[in-house]
Order: sequence, then structure tokens, then C-alpha cells
Amino acid sequence: SENIFKKIISHAKEYGFVFPSSEIYDGLQAVYDYGQYGVELKNNLKTLWWKSMTQLNDNVVGIDAAIFMNPLTWKASGHVDGFNDPMIDNKDSKKRYRADNLIEDKADEYEQAGDVKKAKDLRAKMNQLLGANDLKGVYNLIVEENIKCPLSGTANWTDVRQFNLMFSTKVGSVAEEADTIYLRPETAQGIFVNFLNVQKTGRMKIPFGIAQIGKAFRNEIVAKQFIFRMREFEQMEMQFFIRPGEEMKWYEQWKETRFRWHQAIGLPAEKLKYHKHEKLAHYANAAVDIEFEFPFGFKEIEGIHSRTDFDLTEHQKLSKKKMQYFDNDLNENGKPYGNYVPYVVETSVGADRLFLATLCNAYTEETVGEGDQQKERIYLKLHPALAPIKAAIFPLVRKDGLAEKAQMIFNLLKYDFNVIYEDRDAIGKRYTRQDLIGTPFCIAVDYETMENDTVTIRYRDTMAQERVKIDELSQKIGNEVSF
Ligand code: GAP
Repeated sequence: SENIFKKIISHAKEYGFVFPSSEIYDGLQAVYDYGQYGVELKNNLKTLWWKSMTQLNDNVVGIDAAIFMNPLTWKASGHVDGFNDPMIDNKDSKKRYRADNLIEDKADEYEQAGDVKKAKDLRAKMNQLLGANDLKGVYNLIVEENIKCPLSGTANWTDVRQFNLMFSTKVGSVAEEADTIYLRPETAQGIFVNFLNVQKTGRMKIPFGIAQIGKAFRNEIVAKQFIFRMREFEQMEMQFFIRPGEEMKWYEQWKETRFRWHQAIGLPAEKLKYHKHEKLAHYANAAVDIEFEFPFGFKEIEGIHSRTDFDLTEHQKLSKKKMQYFDNDLNENGKPYGNYVPYVVETSVGADRLFLATLCNAYTEETVGEGDQQKERIYLKLHPALAPIKAAIFPLVRKDGLAEKAQMIFNLLKYDFNVIYEDRDAIGKRYTRQDLIGTPFCIAVDYETMENDTVTIRYRDTMAQERVKIDELSQKIGNEVSF
């Protein structure tokens, strides 16, 4: 499966989905660019998320907050003091690791050797040490377990230090006067600081949600697995503001809603699972991940967190602005609920991780044909709603008016769908190319078209062909690409 993953990475590059950033200078670690088809797929994912949050829920609205924020935001949120990963260096290889990853790998090793108890105990001990911020203890655990550097093979380690994941820069033109500001490590805080603005101007009644899509930045110590863990990435987050005490009900509801959403966009149920957090972040009283089975194993794509009133309360303390809501609905005693700081249930999915999950799930290799006609076919089995190109239009030959007819069909469809016209190479090659980028429909214009205004549609997944009227194309494609 590692092999399949390598193939997917090169497929993404070769067919215009994802390129290493600034590649002509040998790239920049853990930073990637989306190409001509990648950006379409990613935009489709973002649009579907945006619509299902803001359009399908009458009590969820969107915002677009800035990446830079007053640095006090990150003091209040706990990120300045607490958004750290434990870091350790091997003195021989000079390679840097996350101490918790090294211990995790050791636990995995025990597990694979059949010693489940030992693995569990090791993880528990690590979580306890990390929870107590006992870095010396973490170091001792690495030494006790005789964990070696995978590169140098030695156990010659430095101390374990906390490494803050936030990127910082200076605002203003004079360095001495400049203040440190941060690139946001999550989009959520842009929502919390705008809670009252949106609530008041939108006359929102609790329960209600605020959704946002935007870039986030984390100086990850170890960046690996392609676009799975990046230093610059995109999040799609929604904060749902609720009455204190009702958080478990909403947590359960969003947990299920989000799981179903991933299935609706084409990720099969058997490749999805929940992973409940044992060790909770400083802001949460319950948390669960939705994991997808990547070729390198089940890994998190989305987190659902019950964040209590932690963020709003901390902002209230530091900003001295009231972060309260007056609820005039009546409680079971017939009295208004009154003033309170709302509780929050958050859903947070990485657009890039979702993109990677979608790509891994869509990548299909199959053998077609019989006997010596047998050959390998590769295609992206994307939900038509997600496919970068919805239909490609081909004239069988360029002469006898076929090219003009195909252009006419292209012009007919282009206002509603992302379609392309292609007349180079043999028709078989054109089909193959569209398969590789996941185009669900290929429309061929032949001599019969000139007689009766029908074309053939060739379906990507079955390769079956069907004759349809030009007049019916728009509706036919529309039905399939709708969601
Ligand atoms: N506001 C809560 C929050 O940020 P998180 O679990 O740290 O929670 C949420 O991140 C999601 O963001 C993850 O499930 C993942 O999809 C995505 N994400 C986090 N770090 C990432 C990284 N370095 N590269 C790509 N995606 C990342």
C-alpha cells in the first residue's frame, strides 16, 4: 500500500493536481501548490462543504476573517503558552523528531509483535507524562525503552524541549518598534472574536453556527506523507454556539452529521471510522476524530470537539468585553434562560486532507479486455460533483464540419459546467487522458451527429457508450453532477 501511495503522489503531479511548491528551487518542505485540476477538485470540495453548512442549515452563516489577528487573541486562546509539540534531536544524525512520535512508533512495534498490553501501557505512560508537562520524564522513557534514531541507529539524544508551532512575523516597518504577530494556527479564533458581531448583526438566536474556510499555518516539526501534514494548509471549521449543558446532545448530532457527509461525497463507510480522544486538548471536554483509511493507515481527517465556554470566557477575561448572550426562551421552570457565555461544539476538517482522502479513494487500477487484448487501466473514480472537468467534447475527426459541431456543443455546455474541447491525438488516447483526471463523461461527435443531432456519451467507470440527443446533454450531465 506504500507503493500505491507513491503512485498516487506521482499521479497527482503528472496530471496537474498537486506540485511541490517553488519546485524549480527544489521546493520547500511540507508546502505544496495545487495545479489546474487540483484547484478545481479542491474548490468543489470547499463549495460542497460551504453549501452543506450555510445553505442547508438555516442557523449557520459564514464569515471570512483575516489571517493576521491581534496577538492577544493567541494569548487568550492558549496557543502562545500551550500550542507546543515535544521535540528531540539525535546528536549523530542531527535529525529532529517529535518525542511523542518516537514513543508511538515503539508502541506500534509492540503491538505488531502481539504485545498489546505493553503497547497500551507505554501509550498511557506517555500521555500521563505529556499531560503533566514532564519533559524530563518523556526523555527518560525514550532512554528506558532504548528507542533509536531510525536514521543513525543510535540512541544519542538531546533533551526533550517544547517547540511552539506558531509561525511569527513582525508588523510595521521599523524593526525595533515592531510587534510580533502570528500566522493563525487555526481559523476558529477568527470566529470566536466575531461571535458578537455576527450574533448581533445577523440577529442570530442560539443555537447557531458560524462557518469559515481559510488558511492556517503550523511549523510542524516533522512533515510527512505528502499533503497530509503541511506547514501551510486550509481548514474548514464551524463553531456551533449552544446553551451550557446541551453540549453532549449537539456533540453527538454533529458527530453523526459529519460522518454522513463524508459518505455522501463518496468516501465509503468501511474506510471511515471514529477515534475517540483519550487525551483532551486544553479547551475540550469531549473530542472525536473522523478517520479515513489512507494507504498508510487510518488517520484523522476531521475533528469534532466540545470546546465548552473555554474560548469565549478567555477572550472575555483578556479583552474585558462581555461575550454573553441573552436567551429569552423559557426553561422548564418557565423562566428565561437569561445571560450566559455560550458553549461551543466545533467541527474542523482539513481541506487538503479531505482532498488527499478523496484522491486516494478515487485512484483505481483495473485490468480490462480479454486475452492478449488485456491491459491496465488507471482512472480517478471521483463523484461527478467533485470531478474537476465534468465533460470532454471530442470530434471524431477535425474535417467535414465535425470540429465546428463539437465546438458548438462545448459553447452550449460551458455556461453550466466546467467542460473542455479536445481534438488532438487518437480518440482512444483522449479517453485515457480524461480517465486519468477523473472526467465522468466524454462526448464524441461523429458523422451520425451531422445527420441526426445525436452524440455518444462514454461513461468513465463502465466505459459503456450511449447515444443521446444533443438537446438532452445539459439535463443529463446536470442530473449526474448535482449533489
Ligand atoms: N480548531 C481545531 C483544530 O484546529 P486540529 O485537530 O488541530 O483542530 C483540525 O485540526 C483539522 O485540520 C485536522 O483534522 C486536519 O484535517 C487539519 N490539519 C491540522 N493540521 C494540519 C496540517 N499540518 N496539515 C494539513 N492539515 C492539517
